[in-house]
Amino acid sequence: MSHAKIDDSLWERWHSQWDWGTGETLTYLNHGSFGPPPRPVQEARRQWQQRLDRQPMDFFMRTYEPSWLAARERLAQFVGVDPHDLAFVENATAAMNVVADSMGLAADDEVLLTDHEYGAVQRIWQRATAAIGAREPRVARLPERIEAAEQVVDAIFSAAGPRTRLVVVSHITSPTAITLPVEAIVREAHRRGMLVCVDGPHAPAQLPLDLPGLGCDFYCASLHKWLSAPFGSGFLYVRREHQSRIVTPQLSWGRLLPNRPETWSDEFIWSGTRDPSAWLAVPAAIDFLRQVGEEPFRTHGYELATYARARLAELTGLTPITPDDRQWYTCMAHAPLPPGDSVGLQRELWQRYAIEVPIVSWNNRRWIRVSCHLYNRRADIDRLIAALEQVL
Ligand SMILES: Cc1ncc(COP(=O)(O)O)c(C=O)c1O
Repeated sequence: MSHAKIDDSLWERWHSQWDWGTGETLTYLNHGSFGPPPRPVQEARRQWQQRLDRQPMDFFMRTYEPSWLAARERLAQFVGVDPHDLAFVENATAAMNVVADSMGLAADDEVLLTDHEYGAVQRIWQRATAAIGAREPRVARLPERIEAAEQVVDAIFSAAGPRTRLVVVSHITSPTAITLPVEAIVREAHRRGMLVCVDGPHAPAQLPLDLPGLGCDFYCASLHKWLSAPFGSGFLYVRREHQSRIVTPQLSWGRLLPNRPETWSDEFIWSGTRDPSAWLAVPAAIDFLRQVGEEPFRTHGYELATYARARLAELTGLTPITPDDRQWYTCMAHAPLPPGDSVGLQRELWQRYAIEVPIVSWNNRRWIRVSCHLYNRRADIDRLIAALEQVL
């Protein structure tokens, strides 16, 4: 099989912005789980921490709140929303917990997930429904081969019941790295009177985001994945009409005295004394991506992910779930692997070849998920394939 030439120019320009310390020989293909921040983002965070550590009174009493609001404003522009509809949280998990705690589910309400949802998200909704004596969340099984958005929408809503109140769906799935047709899912859910909470930690930077355009009720995201913001940065978006029901997991002052919290998101500004530098350095991550160029960034990742998919299919003879089209994936590709020990294979790739790549067991099959960021190039994929050729 011939493979199109991959343009390494972005790699050449940007890869040295990542500092691998003593791990220079590492092949890191897992930005999707934990995306290391580039140097300028690390530096921005360090500067905020230094200001905090040097003069905490000045930092907390005079600097923090306006800086939180300014950082949120930048993030709001980036995801296309009014800043007042957003709050910083530590990660997508925290955001999802806020939604679960705030939904006010009744005992006969039902929650609907897909079988591609992240394990911890399943647990959040299992606990939330169990706590009020409601039914376990329903799980819609998506088709084994997906060719069209309608198939996904049909599969989800054929699993819905008359009491389904909320659909929880990934924007980009975790085990399979599939971009789900969220806009169509929201449209159909609203037509049926259901709300939608989107689990979106893989989307910021990988996809251009327009949250009002998606129309969802809640959006939960991490910024420490594809945006490469500092670890511990994420956001929760809540549509206006649901904001009054949001409760914070940890009640504190909300705003620093003498200010009083007036809006739902004010409650997230001050939740007790903490290091908020990860949030304040989010604008540095947005600046970095803008400097690279959002679309060139995506094209670079997509070309590599396409190459990885093709080489993996060539190696195993197995076909991914979705067609080879940017509608279904961007910088992260999945591929099925022959049956075997997932944990053992992941460990072997790391120990023998210094390759970090997730191997997951999902729906009784073994899968590999390859993430491609600016510091990756074709040679990384070739190294992965060469290693797999030996160990599989
Ligand atoms: C789809 C999905 N949802 C939620 C999460 C949780 O993200 P975080 O650990 O940043 O909260 C992940 C993490 O990989 C994920 O893939």
